[in-house]
Amino acid sequence: MTTDGSWWKDAVLYELYVRAFRDADGDGHGDLRGVCERLDYVRDLGVDVLWLLPLSPSPLRDDGYDVSDYYGIHPDYGTLDDLRALLDGAHARGLKVITDLVMNHTSSDHPWFQASRRRQEGKADWYVWSDDPSRYAGTRVIFTDSESSNWSWDAVRGQYYWHRFFHHQPDLNYDNPEVRSTMLDVVRFWLELGVDGFRLDAIPYLFQREGTNCENLPETHAFLKELRAFVEGIEPGAFLLGEVNQWPEDTLPYFGDGFDEMPLLFHFPVMPRLWKALAEGSAAPIRWILERTPAIPPSCQWVVFLRNHDELTLEMVTDAERAFMYACYAPEPVMRLNVGIRRRLAPLCDFDRARVELLHSLLMTLPGTPILYYGDEIGMGDDLTLPDRNGVRTPMQWTDGPGAGFSSAQQTYAPLLTGPSAPANVNVAAAERDQGSLLHWLRRLIAIRKGREALGRGTFTMLPSPDPALAVFLSTSERDAVVSVHNLAGEPRRVTLSVPALAGRDLRLGFGGRLEDGVCLGSVAPAEALPVALGAHGYAWWWPEDDA
Ligand code: NOJ
Repeated sequence: MTTDGSWWKDAVLYELYVRAFRDADGDGHGDLRGVCERLDYVRDLGVDVLWLLPLSPSPLRDDGYDVSDYYGIHPDYGTLDDLRALLDGAHARGLKVITDLVMNHTSSDHPWFQASRRRQEGKADWYVWSDDPSRYAGTRVIFTDSESSNWSWDAVRGQYYWHRFFHHQPDLNYDNPEVRSTMLDVVRFWLELGVDGFRLDAIPYLFQREGTNCENLPETHAFLKELRAFVEGIEPGAFLLGEVNQWPEDTLPYFGDGFDEMPLLFHFPVMPRLWKALAEGSAAPIRWILERTPAIPPSCQWVVFLRNHDELTLEMVTDAERAFMYACYAPEPVMRLNVGIRRRLAPLCDFDRARVELLHSLLMTLPGTPILYYGDEIGMGDDLTLPDRNGVRTPMQWTDGPGAGFSSAQQTYAPLLTGPSAPANVNVAAAERDQGSLLHWLRRLIAIRKGREALGRGTFTMLPSPDPALAVFLSTSERDAVVSVHNLAGEPRRVTLSVPALAGRDLRLGFGGRLEDGVCLGSVAPAEALPVALGAHGYAWWWPEDDA
């Protein structure tokens, strides 16, 4: 679509957990060969980039975010050659592949940590050690349900070590130049292997300084700039997506000057506000966060999502908002985890297709590149009997046959879902057969989104709305414009909308759902008087009549 190097502005991402996707060798664990077998499915969704959760050897106490060897593939997933084959297969289909780069910490099983705890020559200072666990007292604990401190005692070394996540994930010491250069070597290894970029895990926490909250420190930005320059030297234009779960004003500096730090960053705080807006039946929470979102360098991009492999995080909301969200979406304590909600998209919507569609309509028209999470495209449920975040990481449901078409093994790494969300009721094969399925709808949505230049790379404005239940977005680019209206309310809404920025132009109603009588797809109206008639949770997208 474009030659300016920012192809990812028009892209749609698909996040998948290799262990959960498809088990080709029948051992009960999904693997890289399994992903290869399903590349046509992924391509046919219309997405452009696959984000694979961590692939490296790991004791899997945090599903691979606890790396024990940065230069290999977990044996359950296959081999480096399997990854090469996957990359070839993806590239042949026009798909890019990124994987997680977990830089902040390793597994405590990693030989580096084993050497460091024994003060072995050369590795003694690779982690953050201290005699005094009251250091960096201003730092919050992230995994509040399982950790009470960022320090844990190591009896072997006789000192405390620092960890921002689980105690079995010691943080690397980025003040040590060897750690920094080794991590750049890891980056080189994966780029040379052929991955198209990385999702950079937990990057705000790389450095610690007394008297701060040990997040977003200048030293962290300096290292990320070094990393960006290093990556550009190997693979110019690589896809680098930073996981920075912060307020927009604290996230903004990670874009740097637009070219020297992260080209892409998640917009975390927008996500809970989409859910809150839906629960309240009001567009106000969306307006609030978008008004609080600063302009970003034109070369950069936000990345937006509804759900992912973690809990629906409520870190970037107020206490009152969190209480509201828990009451609406996690009424049972078992649904809560840390500062968030451990449920999948469809159950969060009470399996109501209208709400699922509305959220996706918002996702695809917000400023930024959208990510979909595997299984959500068929409305998969979750398993609250599994601990931690495992309930949203269950096997992909391909068919209603044995092992859900995921695996031929008697026992899979996690049980298949049971009840209304079981593979017998929710699976890809059934969704393929049903032209009215969510899967078919989503494919259409993605195709439309990708065909509209204004979405993704246009200028975004949230317009004033005559009705507080309606979120009205305008995206414009040189050759395109899209006006989208989203009804957050559970009742119909009828207004006449004026879009002065497009005055004098006729707009065609190109896409919509839950349209009320009298307004139908394909109808044309002047931008000064767009007839909006949406049923509960309905949505409508218009674009200029002249470019159909
Ligand atoms: C963020 C990842 O998304 C999460 O799954 C992981 O547990 C933590 N980082 C620690 O790596």
